[in-house]
Amino acid sequence: MILEGLISTVDEAGQPHISAIGPTVDESFTRFVLRPFRTSRTFHNLQRSHQAVFHVTDDAEAIAAAVCGKEPSRATFFPAKTVRGFVLSTACRAYELEITEFDTSDARALLNCRVTLVHRMRDFFGFNRAKHAVVEAAILASRVGIVPENDIRSEWNHLRTLVEKTGGSAEHRAFEQLAAFIENAFHKAVI
Ligand SMILES: Cc1cc2nc3c(=O)[nH]c(=O)nc-3n(C[C@H](O)[C@H](O)[C@H](O)COP(=O)(O)O)c2cc1C
Repeated sequence: MILEGLISTVDEAGQPHISAIGPTVDESFTRFVLRPFRTSRTFHNLQRSHQAVFHVTDDAEAIAAAVCGKEPSRATFFPAKTVRGFVLSTACRAYELEITEFDTSDARALLNCRVTLVHRMRDFFGFNRAKHAVVEAAILASRVGIVPENDIRSEWNHLRTLVEKTGGSAEHRAFEQLAAFIENAFHKAVI
């Protein structure tokens, strides 16, 4: 099953880099399979360090911010214990990961990972349609240039309705941030 969340990796300067990612997990949460695009910063960081921290979160605004290229403040992290990396303290749970197998034969690499430590920070909020709509919007935003503009726009309007009906202020802010991001990306794609 795929679990959408946030991954932190360490860049060349030793600083945390956050990105949205959807690994496959087993039922016991002991093995993760990451599929990062080989062109992504996350992939390059993983190739160098072979270590990462995966976060389960209900913070849809953090997922939107990651897709828009905004890093959380350094104060939001604490150091990982079993890998060289950083844990996002605002997440619900975090899994320190070590890559055991690295396959780069496809455009999306296939990285088998074992869990070396689990952090449990707080309860998950629960199901909320606006939070899920923001995650869907974030996925669409990460696919501008891959998915046709018309397809993105028609799905976007449906997602906006869900955010307006069921979201709180964080989900409204997240959606607006993504809307500005995709408009900017469409504009660049046209030029
Ligand atoms: C919920 C969610 C899940 C995602 N899962 C993946 C994934 O599994 N693999 C991937 O390459 N990109 C995935 N993306 C897109 C990346 O987050 C996006 O391409 C990002 O720009 C790559 O980040 P980086 O270059 O900063 O590492 C996902 C995006 C979202 C919003």
